[in-house]
Amino acid sequence: MLIRPHHDDDLPALWMLHQKTGLSPFRNSEFTAWVNQNMAWVAVCEGQIAGFVLIQDAPDHQDVLLLVVAPLYRRQGIARRLMQTPLTLKKQMFIEVEATNTPALSLYQSLGFKPIGQRRDYYGPNRHAIVMRELTKGLAERFERPRRAPTESPECN
Ligand SMILES: CC(C)(COP(=O)(O)OP(=O)(O)OC[C@H]1O[C@@H](n2cnc3c(N)ncnc32)[C@H](O)[C@@H]1OP(=O)(O)O)[C@@H](O)C(=O)NCCC(=O)NCCS
Repeated sequence: MLIRPHHDDDLPALWMLHQKTGLSPFRNSEFTAWVNQNMAWVAVCEGQIAGFVLIQDAPDHQDVLLLVVAPLYRRQGIARRLMQTPLTLKKQMFIEVEATNTPALSLYQSLGFKPIGQRRDYYGPNRHAIVMRELTKGLAERFERPRRAPTESPECN
């Protein structure tokens, strides 16, 4: 698997992946602007974009705006790897997760995020968000060794 910053050529694939989640009602142009205003890292498996993370970088923290892995590639540790890019290791992070999204809640809990609040009706009527915060100064503190530079291998795990 290769984990790398996104290129402009990736945008159609990111849009396809995002659309299939049904998580937010963006139009293609809004989605593209959002990706370009922030920082996306992609996971590439077998030449395909298998997932991506979109991060908003503030001086003292980061917000995880989107995290998506294609259904075919789930449960292989790709989301966990995307959450450990060189970028995400360095600052405390926040994220909103729909209260019913068990896979995402489990993922963030396993990375050391804790719930710190709720946003009612954030995703629509009766669709509440849980706000989570990573409690250290960045995920680097949670891993024994810093991540190496991105490497490529034929397998995706
Ligand atoms: C949430 C999502 C990104 C997880 O991607 P993934 O690559 O399958 O996750 P990983 O394989 O890295 O899983 C890491 C950990 O997350 C948790 N997890 C992931 N999927 C899970 C599931 N379906 N059920 C329960 N726990 C799950 C587990 O703790 C897992 O560790 P384990 O496999 O050792 O048990 C993916 O399911 C997805 O794209 N969902 C749709 C979009 C979405 O909801 N994004 C998050 C919005 S905040």
